[in-house]
Amino acid sequence: DQKARVLVASNRGPVSYTVGEDGSLTAKRGGGGLVSGLSAIGPDADALWVCSALSDGDREAVRRGEGEPGTRMLDIPADVHADAYNGIANSVLWFVHHMIYQTPLEPVFDAEFRRQWASYEAYNRAFAEALAEEAAPGAAVLVQDYHLTLVPGMLRELRPDLRIGHFSHTPWAPPEYFRMLPRDIAGQVLRGMLGADRLGFLTRRWADAFAACCEQFAGGTGDTLIGVHGLGADGEFLRERAHRPDVAERMAGLREEIGAGRRTIVRVDRTELSKNIVRGLLAYEQLLVDHPEWRERVVHVAFAYPSRQDLAVYRDYTAEVQRTAERINERFGTPGWTPVVLHVKDDFARSLAAYRLADVALVNPIRDGMNLVAKEMPVLSEEGCVLVLSREAGAFEELGEDALAVNPYDVVDTARALHEALTMPAEERAERTKRLAAAATALPPAQWFLDQLNALTAQPS
Ligand code: G6P
Repeated sequence: DQKARVLVASNRGPVSYTVGEDGSLTAKRGGGGLVSGLSAIGPDADALWVCSALSDGDREAVRRGEGEPGTRMLDIPADVHADAYNGIANSVLWFVHHMIYQTPLEPVFDAEFRRQWASYEAYNRAFAEALAEEAAPGAAVLVQDYHLTLVPGMLRELRPDLRIGHFSHTPWAPPEYFRMLPRDIAGQVLRGMLGADRLGFLTRRWADAFAACCEQFAGGTGDTLIGVHGLGADGEFLRERAHRPDVAERMAGLREEIGAGRRTIVRVDRTELSKNIVRGLLAYEQLLVDHPEWRERVVHVAFAYPSRQDLAVYRDYTAEVQRTAERINERFGTPGWTPVVLHVKDDFARSLAAYRLADVALVNPIRDGMNLVAKEMPVLSEEGCVLVLSREAGAFEELGEDALAVNPYDVVDTARALHEALTMPAEERAERTKRLAAAATALPPAQWFLDQLNALTAQPS
């Protein structure tokens, strides 16, 4: 059987399966930068994507040997995966890099944490072994994200011939925060990553933080090169996709919910602690207090799609978002006006419809690796949409000049920025949107992926 020349490894793969009532498997292809990036190298590249089986359908596809060509799903034992994914990756590592621990009470690195860490090691080892088995001599392997920090080091030992890259889609914590991890664990994460020939980050800020952690806790970055690749929006895809009939249909529906002649402030996120959705709602509420002239004349369209619902803090946060929206609607709503239109059911076509309608885009994360919504909205905006952007989003490095910057913790100032956005003269809005769209599409996913692959294979070993 044929070995792969280019391999991608990530927890979440490009496709997921569901089992129908008649027992048949249906494959659903996902989107995102990696999917369109990998497709750029073409079908003849002998590429393989190694990922986790995440759903019952995925595990069934593995059992039946019915996976899509070009992907290999790993059926990792459910308890091991839960420890690695929910316990270590999405709780500990995500929380460290986004700096979202409430430190008087969390984290607690106890015996339970050590047990989960052993699962994280086993899960990383399963990936490293599968990659070692599937890779052709000298192949390039592109490992993705905080789920798989140990893979480069493990794979290097199994297969010294391979070109190994790792890319972080999250921020990286500065040393004074990163060092809350137990010293041996911090060392394992850094040395695991440094097993790669090349590491990629979304911004200079995250790359510098990683290098600073290595200086302090791993004796430097050794022979590993570090690159910055600021993933951009896929303008061509978005424009085509956003002009299909299903999006037009959603626009009509949204216009009805919003009401004629009203301005719209749009946000689209996973319901994610780092996205700062509750403070966004509070800022909107403050806008209605400080500027009563906007009552009845503006609607906050907030899409908050379910994410990581196995974690109690995420379920609680989702409930808090819903409660806050309801409270604002009760406080200000009138028979003809719903101040906040909140949707929690994932619908890509409706997201694109909202992008097209937006007058103001609200992107206020407390910390974010990049934030592609900030890049996608200006591309699709038809009214010229003003971007209110947190200075803590990676995208701020590229879009900061033409956005209205906010401190994500400062609700009063965010309200002020929303007012400024709503009152910006049309000409200025249009000019800014044009520059934002150009900056946002400077490095489309295909180029982003090829740049990394080329840098990795061109690098002398
Ligand atoms: C972030 C991470 C990705 C992850 C995505 C969705 O963007 O960087 O690795 O796939 O969130 O999260 P989920 O836990 O649903 O895969």
